[in-house]
Amino acid sequence: MAKLLVDGGRPLRGTVRISGRKNSAVAVMPAALLPQGTSRLENLPRITDVEVFLSILRQMGAEAAWREDGSIEVNAERLYRLPVSFELTRRLRASYYLLGALLARQGRAEVALPGGCDLGPRPIDQHLKGFRALGAEVSLQRGTVKVQARQLRGARIYFDVVSVGATINVLLAATAAEGTTVLENAAREPHVVDLANYLNACGAHIRGAGTDVIKVQGGHPLRAAAHAIIPDEIEAATFMTAAAAAGGDVTLENVIPTHLEPVSAKLKEAGALVLENGDSVRVISTERPLPLQLKTMPYPGFPTDAMPPMTALLSIASGTSLVSEGVWENRFAHVNELRKMGARIRVEGRTAVIEGVDALQAAPVEARDLRAAAALMVAGCIAEGQTEIFGVEHLDRGYEGTEEKLRALGVRVQRLREE
Ligand code: UD1
Repeated sequence: MAKLLVDGGRPLRGTVRISGRKNSAVAVMPAALLPQGTSRLENLPRITDVEVFLSILRQMGAEAAWREDGSIEVNAERLYRLPVSFELTRRLRASYYLLGALLARQGRAEVALPGGCDLGPRPIDQHLKGFRALGAEVSLQRGTVKVQARQLRGARIYFDVVSVGATINVLLAATAAEGTTVLENAAREPHVVDLANYLNACGAHIRGAGTDVIKVQGGHPLRAAAHAIIPDEIEAATFMTAAAAAGGDVTLENVIPTHLEPVSAKLKEAGALVLENGDSVRVISTERPLPLQLKTMPYPGFPTDAMPPMTALLSIASGTSLVSEGVWENRFAHVNELRKMGARIRVEGRTAVIEGVDALQAAPVEARDLRAAAALMVAGCIAEGQTEIFGVEHLDRGYEGTEEKLRALGVRVQRLREE
């Protein structure tokens, strides 16, 4: 267990390089089980979720290791047919991508139901609906999902809800299905496109990723390829929000500004200046944030994962803001902790009503999930004094080199191990 001590209350100034996208990395890593040969994956973030996935791949018999240049090589020509250990799969939600990947690779998979952040019920009915439509038998026993098929066949699948996970999982399986698969009402997130780009580089025929209809011509042999993971827009959004909230002038390098538009638009509405320049974006803020209304939605709406840090910013806005959660049932775990720092927030159903206060005060707070930890990091940058953030291991699941990055922006921060 560890905690972060953040000395806040000063404007942030400097440059930060944004790492590869967590949610892309954890989709592309299981996809690397599909091709023959050795794939080289670049721009992967050094975060716990990636390390856990590496351990899972190795436990399954694949060769998977970091190289000196920061890339990872994966060769999965030899794979055991054993169920993957629950000890590892329970540690990250994305372990359920092994269902789609192994179904494609060896016609069967057995994975214990995933863990990850507790954001309310996290059903996987749409994943299973997709696998069944492709001809797989699905069974659920004592928390373990089993899928198997002699031969997957292409199908038309309409998702009843827009689900990133279901889109990615069924896309993985569909690469091995004979004939054409059409995914309708598919998620349009850039990491779906990133995965499709990697699979296409390996020889798959996937068209339409990034729209809500994706077509896959399955059954093509796949050969390993090199692929660079896209930048993490949620990490970028977190630092942009911190800059806008604490004041200052921060440049983020290695970003794709179009992916950040939903967040940039809201930060501009809050009064910050957001300047795009090639693959960098600069956020300048000299004033107290303005209040606003926002609702989280699937891409290209405002991302739910960027909402908790935004709540921290709005807690010091010059008026009352309304934040509605449109994706998860229970995404306000950070609100209680922000209240300890003086924020005036009440939650009514899936909406937070945030009455801006003049300032936040440092306090001991505890992160209970990944993006709640990011919200507390932003709050720590705003608050006068030293904020103690417990539960930093949640932050480490998705943010690479947090302390170094904060220090590069002039924030005094220390990590202490707890007994
Ligand atoms: C992914 C992200 C997570 C992000 C979320 C929404 C990863 C590893 N995680 O999670 O950080 O917050 O997208 O952008 O990429 N649903 C169903 N049935 C299903 C699947 C989902 O009803 O079979 C519902 C969920 O309960 C939720 C909504 O659909 O209300 C969206 O979930 P989904 O897009 O699947 O999120 P994840 O892929 O789990």
